[in-house]
Order: sequence, then structure tokens, then C-alpha cells
Amino acid sequence: MIITIAHSKGGVGKSLLAWHLSIAMGVPIIDLDFQKTLVYVNKLREMHGRVPINIIHPENTEAFIGLYDSWTNDKDIIIDVGGFDSDLNRTAIYVSDIVITPAVDRVTEMAGLYKFHAVLEDISQSVGTKIKTYVLLNDVSPVSRDFSVIKDMIDSLGHFDLLESIVAHRADFYRSMEEGRGVTEGIDTKASREILALVAEIKRIGKEIE
Ligand SMILES: Nc1ncnc2c1ncn2[C@@H]1O[C@H](COP(=O)(O)OP(=O)(O)OP(=O)(O)O)[C@@H](O)[C@H]1O
Ligand SMILES: [Mg+2]
Repeated sequence: MIITIAHSKGGVGKSLLAWHLSIAMGVPIIDLDFQKTLVYVNKLREMHGRVPINIIHPENTEAFIGLYDSWTNDKDIIIDVGGFDSDLNRTAIYVSDIVITPAVDRVTEMAGLYKFHAVLEDISQSVGTKIKTYVLLNDVSPVSRDFSVIKDMIDSLGHFDLLESIVAHRADFYRSMEEGRGVTEGIDTKASREILALVAEIKRIGKEIE
């Protein structure tokens, strides 16, 4: 199963989620972001005596397609897409089994979601099938309970479904990365439980679409 974390907007938590999901699921990452954020975190991981995770870097769309063609579907992989629109990122979205779009429940984030929705409409038109992504509320205030505004907006947009899982803003997510660790590799915390719940939901969706 190919699980892609994608949003044309930067800084929404794609790399952070790809990192923790990859470790929780024990699967490699294809890093399509030229910033190579996770390669740096992987170096920190090695420096702290942990076995680095497998991060693959296709240099262009052809290399990515070659990788995709040789990928057997019984193996899972996570793709971290850069926060911009490009042919390579569109290809990744198109070939994925599940696309997760992290979004923050702030009014200032809505424009970005509309823009990405237009990209999904565009991809759908060019390939002739309806592309859908699962929106994950990420980096939300740990004390927020009412997400009705963003939920209504997502419900009104045909290329989005909303995940049940919610990931809150938690220092544990970035502190653990400072030592190249996944939140699920330490003690049981709210952050680790959120990632494990997300993994369970992804697996449930994976079974449904099999
Ligand atoms: N749930 C969270 N809790 C705490 N901090 C978070 C959370 N999600 C994201 N962040 C922080 O937000 C910032 C952006 O995250 P990240 O680099 O993962 O975004 P991105 O979508 O990959 O960005 P880009 O598009 O530039 O690649 C980072 O500083 C990250 O630590
Ligand atoms: Mg990133």
C-alpha cells in the first residue's frame, strides 16, 4: 500500500507525520521534497545510536515511476511530498492508495485547502477518475473540541474525506525528532497514542479499498 502525505501548502506537518508513521509502521519513506528534511533527522537518528530508517530519493518523475513500477503491492511505503504543486507531486498523488492531507483548523489555512482541492480537481480531470484525499486535522490545540467549521468545509468539498483521527500540537512530536526518534519508540504518551490510532485507521481504510 502506498500512503502519501500531500498538501500543496508548506509547513502543515507532512514530514513530521511521515517520520512518525514510518517508524510506527516499520516502513520506508520516499522523500520527494528537495529540502530533504527527513534525511537530516535520519542523521540525528544515527548519531543517537539508532538504526536509520530507509529513505529513498528519486531525483525526478522518471526515477519515481521506475521505483513505483518495481514496487510490490504487499509492501507498504510512505511518501513525503514537498509543499508545492509539481508534476512529480501530482504523479505521487495519482499512484497512491491513500493520500493524507494534514490541515490545521484555523481560518487562515482554509485558502490553502481550497487551492489544493483545485489541484485535485485538475488531476482528476486529466486522468479521468475522481482523486480523493483524507484530511487529517493536525497540530490542533490539545484543548480544542469543536472542529465543526473545518469539518463542514471539508464535507462540502468533493475531493476530501475527513479522517476520524486527530493529531494535536504536542512538543513530543518535534522533541523526539531532535534525537531522531519516533514518538512510538519511547514511553506511552498522548503523541504516541495519536500516531498508533492513525496507523490503525490507515490500516482499516487499506482493508476497505483492497
Ligand atoms: N502535531 C504537531 N505538533 C507540534 N508541532 C508540529 C505538529 N505538526 C507540525 N508541527 C511543526 O510544524 C512545522 C512544520 O512541519 P513539517 O516540516 O512537518 O511541515 P511540512 O508540511 O513537511 O512542510 P514543507 O511543506 O515545507 O515540507 C515543524 O516545525 C513541525 O515541528
Ligand atoms: Mg516537509
